[in-house]
This record gives sequence, structure tokens and C-alpha cells, in this order.
Amino acid sequence: MLEIRNARKDFECGNVMKRTVLDHLSLHLDDGEFVTIIGSNGAGKSTLFNAICGTFLLDEGSIRLDEMNMTMMPEHRRARYIGRVFQDPMRGTAPNMTVEENLSLAHSRSTANPLSFAPTRQEKALFRDRLSEFGMQLEDRMKTKVGLLSGGQRQAVTLLMCTIVTPRLLLLDEHTAALDPGAAAKVMEITRKIVSDGHLTTMMITHNMSAALTTGTRTLMMENGKILFDLSGEQRANMTTETLLDLYSTTTHAKFDNDRMLFEKAGHA
Ligand SMILES: Nc1ncnc2c1ncn2[C@@H]1O[C@H](COP(=O)(O)OP(=O)(O)O)[C@@H](O)[C@H]1O
Ligand SMILES: [Mg+2]
Repeated sequence: MLEIRNARKDFECGNVMKRTVLDHLSLHLDDGEFVTIIGSNGAGKSTLFNAICGTFLLDEGSIRLDEMNMTMMPEHRRARYIGRVFQDPMRGTAPNMTVEENLSLAHSRSTANPLSFAPTRQEKALFRDRLSEFGMQLEDRMKTKVGLLSGGQRQAVTLLMCTIVTPRLLLLDEHTAALDPGAAAKVMEITRKIVSDGHLTTMMITHNMSAALTTGTRTLMMENGKILFDLSGEQRANMTTETLLDLYSTTTHAKFDNDRMLFEKAGHA
């Protein structure tokens, strides 16, 4: 369960100017909910994730994850409970370590040997098993340095690292946006499997509106640090990219501005 109440964050812009990037935002996620998030550039989507992870403290409001009040908790402690995958495939893994060493490091968080990256025999069997479920032949490359893998393979390894010890919350920030369409589709398929097998409470930012509407059970549209729409059930099931963009325009009297999404719409995906 994630409970964000009245979250406000201002960033300085210039000497005296302040910009409210999270504007009294409230949000409740039940256990196992898979929520997708869309919004124009600069809407505050990544800032919301930073606030949840503790990259900075809120200026106002509170954040709870299950029984924990995280509002004042430092980032490194929150990291024990939260898995996060970024857009950049270089970011989640250590390139000079092998696939199994990276996974072992992530898995060691749950064992008596924190920060250990020499995998035990049982760990190797576990990693091979989990990797083989992806259908990317990664189980045959456990001794390959991660830096030699493709972007899609790296994101798959990062996803497994973030979930090999079950996180209380999984945050995906455009984690397929830097991949070619084939790899992006594959990583999305793996994502859906990991989330559904582990019943993980998940938030996924995406620029792909149709993926947002068809993945998970709920879609948030953010705008100016607020949640503009919170779609679920029948309303979401009946929504298409076009009707959602129309709803956006009539509500905000503006055109949706997400360069990457419009680029893809023009057929350059
Ligand atoms: N650390 C920071 N300092 C100042 N401004 C920031 C910082 N992080 C983000 N911003 C600003 O906050 C706004 C929201 O950014 P972001 O959350 O990254 O948007 P997006 O919805 O595209 O992920 C942007 O205007 C961005 O420039
Ligand atoms: Mg962002």
C-alpha cells in the first residue's frame, strides 16, 4: 500500500522565483495495483518518483509505504523497499561485472552476506531459472559482463535485479523508451510477467499512451504537478489514445505536449 498525502515540492528557478513541481498531490495505491502514468514533458512524473524514493524531502505532505512512514526517511533506507528502473539501460547495472555477479549483489540484500557478489550454487540455479523465463537466452550468458549486453538485455537484467528480492514498490520510469521497438516490446512483456507473478505494487511512467491504457489496471495523467485524470474500470477500458487526448484538450484548453509521444504517433517509432 502506498499513500501519498498532499505532497508539495517547490524548486528554485532563478533567485527569487519558485516553481511548484508537485502541487498538493494525493494518491493511494492498493497492494498489487499496477498503475501507469502519462503526462506532458515537465508534468512532474519523475519528480513524483524522486519524492517517493527520497531524492529530496517534501516541503509539505506525507508518504507512507505499508506500515512505514517514509516522509523523513533517508533515500538509502527507502531503497531497501523500492525497486526503480530508469530509461537509461546503463544506469541499473555494473557494466564490468557479469550478469550473475550483478544479480548476486542484488540478491545479497536478502541474505546474511550484504554486498556479496560471488554467487553461491543455489543462487546460480535461481538466477538461471528466472532468466530462462524471459526467453532472451540470458540464462546462457550468466558469465558475460553486463556491459556487453544489448540495451534490452540490460533492462531485463535490471528488472530482475530490482525484483529478485521482492520490493514493496516497483517504479519504472520510461524504462523502454531508449530501446528499439522490438526490444521495447520484449521488455514490456517481461515487465508484465514479473509484476503479475510477484503481485507487485507498480507504477510505470510511459510516453506510449496505448501501452499506458492497456497495461495494468489504472492510468494517471499528470499535469503541472497534479493528477489531472485517474482512470480505471469501464472508463479506462473504453478510452482510446484519441479520446484521452480530446479529454485532455477540453479540460486544459491546451494541446498535449510530449514530443516523444507525438513523434511516435507520426510513425517514427
Ligand atoms: N532537481 C531539480 N531542480 C530544479 N528543477 C527541477 C529538478 N528536477 C526537476 N525539475 C523541474 O521540475 C519539472 C518537472 O520535471 P520532471 O518531474 O522531470 O518532469 P517529467 O514529467 O517530464 O518527468 C521540470 O520543469 C523540471 O525542469
Ligand atoms: Mg521524466
